[in-house]
Order: sequence, then structure tokens, then C-alpha cells
Amino acid sequence: MRDVIDLLDIAYVRSGAGDLPAAVRFAVDIVGMEPAGEEEGVAYLRADDRHHCLAFVEGCSGVLSSAFVLADEHALERAENELELSGVKVARGTPEQARSRRVRDFIAFDDPFGNRIDLVIDQVKVRRPMRHGRPSGITEFGHLCLDAADVREAHRFWSTMFNARASDWIGDWACLMRIDPVHHKLAFFKGSSPGLCHINFQVDSIDDVMRNWHFLQEQGVEIEMGPGRHPQSTAIFLYFKGPEGLTYEYSYGVRLITDEAAWQPRYWDPAEPDAIDMWRGPTRRVNTQPQIMRALGDE
Ligand SMILES: [Fe+2]
Repeated sequence: MRDVIDLLDIAYVRSGAGDLPAAVRFAVDIVGMEPAGEEEGVAYLRADDRHHCLAFVEGCSGVLSSAFVLADEHALERAENELELSGVKVARGTPEQARSRRVRDFIAFDDPFGNRIDLVIDQVKVRRPMRHGRPSGITEFGHLCLDAADVREAHRFWSTMFNARASDWIGDWACLMRIDPVHHKLAFFKGSSPGLCHINFQVDSIDDVMRNWHFLQEQGVEIEMGPGRHPQSTAIFLYFKGPEGLTYEYSYGVRLITDEAAWQPRYWDPAEPDAIDMWRGPTRRVNTQPQIMRALGDE
């Protein structure tokens, strides 16, 4: 019996940006993130006490990696061993790469669908109060969602290698997974190729969701879905399209699963009209930011 790798939290998303200033402008002036510096073609955006949870790297559009936090260097070493024993190739980050990610150390691997994942330790935290780019009500980096050709198989990999467990299923179309009491911090959506389906930010109230909706419309931002309410997590959601093909989500009111033993994953049929939005608004699959394929150890 192998050790399960404990993911403590989500850490960040690194995304390639063809037009770095425009990507940063949108994240700050529209989404409301705090600009957290820029160096060597990497721009950092902050949403909570993490140094950053989104980094734009000058280059091609597309997601570069999505990251999770492990406890310490022993956990990192165990994770490296467990992944390699399972036949997953792993690369240890260089000190320069770790510095660029604002973590002490990390390893990188590709999940079976080609999503590049960083497992990090000691992500830098910043204690000073947030200086929001705009009063959008962001309180924290909420979750990240990836694409996988086979969502069942994604669940199998992530629930056997890691402590991720299914909170709810939407047919074979989506698996919403938790690594702590939050209903989902990670989800897989059926997609033909790997990529970042969306990045989520929690906001302070339903009023923020609605005010943001009006603001985004005034600014001519493409609303992809919402406002609506997911029946699985009970979160009130709003999805919208940013530059570089990146879909952002604001949400409020995510369910907490506090009684692990009592929770049974539930199953929705995506064809039912209230499977995605219990308010029965129009729903559609949001656009995925494709994974940039590159050799392990690059970037
Ligand atoms: Fe989401």
C-alpha cells in the first residue's frame, strides 16, 4: 500500500501571456487583483495572503502549470518517490525556478492527461492588507479546474495518488474534488486536451457577484455563464473571459463539508436543466486555456 500524497492547499496558476501588460491590466483593473510586482518577464497577481496566486509569464498564451502545497521537504521527497514508483516522471525545480514561483522548493510532473502540476513547499505569504486593483470583493483564491479526456480516470489518478476525493459528479462530464472542507478546490472537466478550464476567486457577498456582473458588462467583458447557482457546491457563480484565453470565475457561498464520514458524493445528469445552474439560467461550457506542452524541467 503506497502513501497517499497530501495536498494541503492550492498555491498558484502560471499562465503564459502574449501581451503581458494587457493581461496584468485586466487582472488588476477588471478582476480586482493586487499587482504584486514584475521581474524578468513574470508578473505576479495577489488575491489573498499568498505572495501571488496567478503569475503571467511573457510568451505564448496558455497555462504553464497549476500548483498545490505540500507540508514540508519530507513530504516533497515522499511525493517524488511515490510518483516515480507509479511510473510518473518528476523533475525537481531549480533554485531559480523556485524563486520565480516564490516557493522554497518544488517538483513538477504531468498528470496522465498532460496537465503540468507543481507540488511546492513554503509558498511565500504576505501579511500586509490587500490593495485591491478594484473593489470587486475578492477574498481568496478559491479553486482551479483542469481538463481531462477521461474524468473518471482523472478521479482515479487524483484520488489514489493524492488525498483528493470526489465531492460530487456531474455525469462523466465533471468531477468536483476536495482536499479540505471546501466542497472543491480542484475539479476536472471533460475536454479533448489538457488545460485550465477556469481559475476561481471567492468574493465577500452575493452583492459583490451582482455588482461585478454589472461592472463587467459595462466594461464590455464577455460573460461566459451566470450569474447562477451551482447545486453541488451551492456557490453563486459568474464566469467571464479574460485575455490570453483565461476564464475567471467569481463565486460566493461555497459549501463546506465538515463531516467527512457522512458525505456521500452525489451524481447529476448534465442533461437535466438544473444540473449546472439551479436557477436554470443559460449554461455553456466555458473555454479552456490550453496547456502549453514542454519538457519537464523547462521554464
Ligand atoms: Fe468553478
